Amino acid sequence: MKILMVCLGNICRSPMAEGIMAHMIHKQRLPWHVDSAGTSNYHEGEAPDYRSILKMEKYGIDISLQRSRPFSEADFDRFDLILCMDENNLLNVAKKAKNDAHKAKISMIMEYVHPGERMGVPDPYYGGEAGFEKVYQMLWQACEKVIEHHGK
Ligand code: 4NP
Repeated sequence: MKILMVCLGNICRSPMAEGIMAHMIHKQRLPWHVDSAGTSNYHEGEAPDYRSILKMEKYGIDISLQRSRPFSEADFDRFDLILCMDENNLLNVAKKAKNDAHKAKISMIMEYVHPGERMGVPDPYYGGEAGFEKVYQMLWQACEKVIEHHGK
């Protein structure tokens, strides 16, 4: 399974999602691959936000070497699942889909925890530390469900 985590800036939420999923893949020795991207290029080439790095460090996961990159159309062919953090991310990714096979790969990551609710992972960029903790907890739960759902 090849998974791409997507948010807006690729510096807060999707780098945390990538880090958590990479950690689980490693621990469970799954033959899976994970990466992340942003629907914008605002932060291209930058490391994750220091608040995301610190939060992940607290839980023993190093994401400091990740670098932000924009989502590209070629990602539809490189990945099996494109997991978006919120509805805006999903709409922006869907705009780039060229066919139904592309569209079928896109979903919101919280659908795995709360199916049908269209719940987004809240953008923590303009908030405080508690927002990053919340994002971590939501994404940990979601990544466990993604692994359960798609088997090992
Ligand atoms: P992310 O958070 O999408 O979780 O990486 C954001 C980072 C930067 C901006 C917005 C959201 N920004 O507008 O610069």
